[in-house]
Amino acid sequence: MSKGLVVFATRTNQTRKIAQLIAEGMRFEGCDAEVRNVTELGNDGASLNDYDAIVLGSATYHGEMMQSMKTFLFAAEKSNLEGKVGGAFGAFGWSGEAPGRIFDTMSNVFKMDMAAGALRLKSAALEGGVQMAQDYGREIAKKVAGAK
Ligand SMILES: Cc1cc2nc3c(=O)[nH]c(=O)nc-3n(C[C@H](O)[C@H](O)[C@H](O)COP(=O)(O)O)c2cc1C
Repeated sequence: MSKGLVVFATRTNQTRKIAQLIAEGMRFEGCDAEVRNVTELGNDGASLNDYDAIVLGSATYHGEMMQSMKTFLFAAEKSNLEGKVGGAFGAFGWSGEAPGRIFDTMSNVFKMDMAAGALRLKSAALEGGVQMAQDYGREIAKKVAGAK
């Protein structure tokens, strides 16, 4: 079975909820998905090699991703993620820069095989976003299945 990892950075847990829904969507398509808070993960980045798909998310604060996700991205650069399936997501209030920044880093620096775009969900509309988040997970898992 293919393996996916969904990592989130959050302050008030909206991005955690999106992460859980993305993982559900991945499981619907037969991908074994783990969900981790970025604060639980070490900084060596090496363990990322074990996964077929990696999906990273952060809430946006003051126009940026959270510092913990920035630190994680620098650590992840040490892993060879080229060609692995990737996605990016995050909860936001009005401008939502973080998911796009994460997506661009995964695409340009890590050279990952990215989903069609980043998933941004406005916290106020999160309930309506359940389907969107699950569908994003499905898209990622289908990409993994297609790449195998
Ligand atoms: C101090 C503060 C600054 C924020 N800055 C931004 C911002 O620059 N752009 C934006 O889209 N949302 C901003 N937000 C809204 C958060 O992104 C939004 O509440 C989001 O749901 C938080 O996600 P989380 O629960 O995963 O931490 C800000 C919220 C706070 C409290």
